[in-house]
Amino acid sequence: MPRTTTALAAAATLAVGGLLLAAVTSQAGAAGTGLKTLAEAKGIYFGTALTQSNLSNSTLTAVAGAQFDMVTPGNEMKWDTTEPSNGSYNFGPGDAIVSFAQSHDMRVRGHNLVWHSQLPGWVNGLPSNQVQAAMEAHITTEATHYKGKLYAWDVVNEPFNEDGSLRQDAFYNAMGSGYLADALRTAHAADPNAKLYLNDYNIEGQNAKSDGMYRLVSQLKSQGVPIDGVGLESHFIVGQVPSSMRANMQRFTALGLDVAITELDDRIQLPANSSTLAQQATDYATVVNNCLAVSRCVGVSQWGVGDADSWIPGTFPGQGAATMYDNNYQPKPAYNSTATALGGSTTTTTTTPPPPPNSTCAVTDSVNAWNTGLTESITITNTGTAPINGWSLAFTLAGGQTVTSAWNASITPASGQVAAKNVGYNGSVAPGASVSFGFQATHTGNTSAPGDFTLNGTRCA
Ligand code: XIL
Repeated sequence: MPRTTTALAAAATLAVGGLLLAAVTSQAGAAGTGLKTLAEAKGIYFGTALTQSNLSNSTLTAVAGAQFDMVTPGNEMKWDTTEPSNGSYNFGPGDAIVSFAQSHDMRVRGHNLVWHSQLPGWVNGLPSNQVQAAMEAHITTEATHYKGKLYAWDVVNEPFNEDGSLRQDAFYNAMGSGYLADALRTAHAADPNAKLYLNDYNIEGQNAKSDGMYRLVSQLKSQGVPIDGVGLESHFIVGQVPSSMRANMQRFTALGLDVAITELDDRIQLPANSSTLAQQATDYATVVNNCLAVSRCVGVSQWGVGDADSWIPGTFPGQGAATMYDNNYQPKPAYNSTATALGGSTTTTTTTPPPPPNSTCAVTDSVNAWNTGLTESITITNTGTAPINGWSLAFTLAGGQTVTSAWNASITPASGQVAAKNVGYNGSVAPGASVSFGFQATHTGNTSAPGDFTLNGTRCA
């Protein structure tokens, strides 16, 4: 697919009565401009992994449907789910993912047909002269079931050791290195239109393991084995995206193969802080820019939608915060850097209506933030001609912010749309006078101040 360089126009500004109202939001681009739209304009896709249980989380699925145009089932097409005992197949969970994807205009990467992990015990227990037939039957049955519905298959997942030799799993032990070509040929026969991939981790940069993959796929190509691409999982540690990643991708594409970033995440030692989140934003931009720079890099998929559904905390204790969305599915700095790398704008001029001309209040606020906390000071000025006797100031806290204490006001509830009410000694504000209060809050990365205040039902300037 040729790359186009469609420029996405910045959102329009709204001028009302000579007032220009601008607010910086953390959503990229104009409203509705998801990563998928930006990616498509650059000729690539942007995907996510989804598990069946994710489908019942409406916050998660709303983000997934708006932002991503490719889905990889997190577990549902793996051998332990699809053929838990010899010859008995279960495609229900995988079908649920495919049907979600189809109803949201998303394509699907099948993941995976052959892998040493999440492999049911019966395969490991087979006598070695029965492994090939079992593998071929599994591939044929599963790839036939999904025939025509998938963009790609990870035919063999994680076949390499770190030193570039082949992993001695049930398949290698039974068939030697020839199992890879056999698996690819079997998958191609079942679904000739699916792009066939070998997928692995720690092959993003140039190293012994990616050299092993390079040697293997060169050989497969020269032997005419049906292989279309190499998947770079890209489970990174913050600050450790290899500098040789782009050159490494280029050497694979020079063989006539596609490459894809298949399982991107970037884990942080918890708790994350503003500097690790900023580094993560840089890492995401680096990865996206690498894909954009390599003409046969077909797309980027993140492994999960947000930190709340990421596999990282469960697998790497003490680490997490590895995705573009926080635990409340609010975008993190990495979301903005990704959108920017894809050509989007992270500064949106919003169309907040102006306060009425007869507004009788003005509000200023300022935020001081650190790792996971912030303090905010707010000053209300009575710009009207009548005294205020008792006040309630309504505003909305940024996603992920939770008030832990307040002074000179009582604030309820602790998050979302809140009301700050005067305490006993500061309810009266004479015309021209001001009153100040403040609060301390925790946050999950979004430290924005509220931009819109309503005092006793009247919007303030
Ligand atoms: C992970 C899933 O996300 C977890 O839910 C599961 O418990 C283990 O597998 N490489 C892969 C993925 O190719 O299939 C893995 O997914 C993550 C590492």
